Amino acid sequence: MNQPTLMVANWKMHKTVDQSRAYVRELLRRRQGETIPSITEVICPTVVALWGVARILAESEVAVGAQNVDVGREGAHTGAVSPYLLHEAGAHYAIVGHSERRQLYGEDDELVAAKAVECVNAQLIPVVCVGESREEREAGATDGVIARQVSAVMSVWPDGASADVVFAYEPIWAIGTGLVADAAEAGRVARLIRDTVHASQPQRQDSVRVLYGGSVTRENIAQFAQESLLSGALVGGASLDVGHWMDLIRVWKEVRS
Ligand code: PGA
Repeated sequence: MNQPTLMVANWKMHKTVDQSRAYVRELLRRRQGETIPSITEVICPTVVALWGVARILAESEVAVGAQNVDVGREGAHTGAVSPYLLHEAGAHYAIVGHSERRQLYGEDDELVAAKAVECVNAQLIPVVCVGESREEREAGATDGVIARQVSAVMSVWPDGASADVVFAYEPIWAIGTGLVADAAEAGRVARLIRDTVHASQPQRQDSVRVLYGGSVTRENIAQFAQESLLSGALVGGASLDVGHWMDLIRVWKEVRS
């Protein structure tokens, strides 16, 4: 399986607008002369920094993503941001269904699926996060949780849509904890995600990409790059430093080349 790698930096609620712009300027400066074929980097800043970051990255190969979207194009939804606006502001990707959104903001499978569909309609590629809690893993419920979360999205995925299908397997117990999933286990779950997509939409199975997320660092990313069923990583904490981010990309590239 040799699908193009996707490396997604999820900055969460970190960095001021100035810090965000300075980061991507520095990223472009350090990348000068360095081409990174077959790896798409996606920077997901806070929503207030997104437009400014996108303007700086506009002529580059580095893409911009949103961390969340709301459903709808426009209307009386105080505080909401539609994927159409995010696309206009320069985003090409959006993280959807992150476990922090599911846990802290009560997003359920149905809402996550609706957000993914709205992204597709707005020409954003949704990176849909799925993952089990520690309790679910200990109870042997991992596979059921993943299959349920993936099916919820694929059962409403628009028929004619050509958008890529990207899932990020992020075991909740591994996010921001320093605990990482075993790469072979992440590969096994990636296979389950692909099989679940296949069951719902057989024609899309070959274009599915599965990323791993949860405490990825430059020290542990090689094992995930070695797992052929994974097509990249979704990185939180370790993406906040531009040097660390570039090391993650370099290690992935070295392992895969
Ligand atoms: P982490 O976050 O890399 O800091 O664990 C990953 C994520 O939440 O997407």
